[in-house]
Amino acid sequence: MSEFENLSPQAAGKPPYLLTPGPITTTDTVKAAMLRDWGSWDGDFRQMTRQLCDQLLDVANAKDSHVCVPMQGSGTFAVEATLGTLVPKTGKVLVLMNGAYGKRLAQTLDYLGRDYVTLDKGDYLPPMPDEVENILKADGEITHVAVIHCETSSGILNPIPEIAEVVARLGRRLIIDSMSAFGAIPVDAKKTAV
Ligand SMILES: Cc1ncc(COP(=O)(O)O)c(C=O)c1O
Repeated sequence: MSEFENLSPQAAGKPPYLLTPGPITTTDTVKAAMLRDWGSWDGDFRQMTRQLCDQLLDVANAKDSHVCVPMQGSGTFAVEATLGTLVPKTGKVLVLMNGAYGKRLAQTLDYLGRDYVTLDKGDYLPPMPDEVENILKADGEITHVAVIHCETSSGILNPIPEIAEVVARLGRRLIIDSMSAFGAIPVDAKKTAV
C-alpha cells in the first residue's frame, strides 16, 4: 500500500471523500441531523424551512425584493424548473456558454421547446459584457439572458455584475445558475438587477 493510500478515508474504513462538482461529502453532524423524520405540514418543519429561506435571501441581500423557492432535486432539476417557469413559451433566451453547464442550459431549453441563441466561448474564455450588448441590440426578440456564475466544468468565474448591468440597461431579464458559487462568491440582488 502506498503512502497516499494510507491517508485515504477508504483505508480507514470510511466512505470516500466526494470531490465531484455535484453532490459533495457532508459532515457527520449533517448526516446525523437528517436521521430525524419531519412532517412537511408540521409547524416545526415549516418554521425551519422559513428560517432557511430567510438565510438564503440574506446571503443574496434580497430579503425585501425576492422570494426563495426551495427545490427538492438535483441542480439540473432546479435549472430546468427555473427555465421552464421563468421563460414564457414565447420567450427567447441568449445562453452564455463556456463549459458543460452552459451547454446543458441550451440542451434544456431545447427539450422545453424554448427558442434560444448561444454565445459559445469554448472552455477558456468568459462572455464579455460588450459581446452580450451587441447581441441584445441586434436581436430585439431576446427576452432573457442565462449564464452560469462559476462554470464548474471549466473553472471560469463569469463577470456577472458587468453582464447584469448590460442586461438590465437593455430591458431584458437575467437568469444566473450560481450553483457552485452561491455563498462563496457574493451575489448582491441590490446591485445585480435580475
Ligand atoms: C453550475 C452548475 N450547474 C448545474 C449543475 C448540475 O447539478 P446536478 O449534478 O446536481 O444535476 C452543477 C453540478 O455541479 C453545476 O456545478
